[in-house]
Amino acid sequence: MTETFWWVIFPYITITIMVVGLLYRFAFRQTTWAAPSTEIFEKKWLRMGSTIFHYGIIFAFIGHVMGVLIPRGVYEAMGVSDELYHTFAIIGGGLAGVMVVLGLIFLLIRKIANNRVRIHATFADFFTVTLLLIVAGMGTYMTLVYNLTVVTYEYRTSIGPWFRSLFVFRPQVELMRDVPLLFQVHIIAAFVLFASIPFTKLVHMFSLPVRYPARAPQQYRSRSGFKRKTKI
Ligand code: HEM
Repeated sequence: MTETFWWVIFPYITITIMVVGLLYRFAFRQTTWAAPSTEIFEKKWLRMGSTIFHYGIIFAFIGHVMGVLIPRGVYEAMGVSDELYHTFAIIGGGLAGVMVVLGLIFLLIRKIANNRVRIHATFADFFTVTLLLIVAGMGTYMTLVYNLTVVTYEYRTSIGPWFRSLFVFRPQVELMRDVPLLFQVHIIAAFVLFASIPFTKLVHMFSLPVRYPARAPQQYRSRSGFKRKTKI
């Protein structure tokens, strides 16, 4: 029963909260659909923390697609050995993880240490950065410490197929039975994070954030509208 709760009921409940919450916020609170910048209060730490974090999270996302969504059979068919896959995953994933964690630490210190940033931060802002740090900290520990000191854990035969089984509504609970606790907690915490998205600044990730890494955090809009300069 406990197994069914954590690996079937809990994921579906949290994803439902996320989807319904996002639809509600989009339909009825669209003007709040943003990540209001605090660049005006402090610039240096924000630029550093935010840039490292965002590049890191993009790499970590790609890593999750490669490790959790793409079946191991695809690598076998391409002739990629388990050793090669894991070496690449540990180096690439480890680097991405360190970037995410470092960026989040910068952002959290800034939120606590800078008076103006702290006063304007909401409970949801602290909650998001702290939970991201917990999830990413565990992920990075799994990749760099657990894999290198305990055992190179083959999540592509347990976590991966279980995660994909959720999408076809035929959850294979038994696959999660022998997964190390650390990995299980990482996943449960990630689902809590997913459920919290509609209530936090994280909604901005669904706004096609392709320009985010390169643009200035604070955006200005002209009162009289945007006019393109025309060449004569
Ligand atoms: C249910 C969703 C998730 C699953 C199934 C999952 C699973 C995994 C797995 C299997 C690893 C690899 C560990 C290893 O190398 O041995 C990992 C690492 C990691 N996870 Fe997650 N994770 C999820 C969500 C998240 C989220 C939302 C974040 C965002 C903070 C995150 C951040 C990380 C980081 C930073 C690493 C280390 C770097 C990397 O390998 O990409 N994970 N996760």
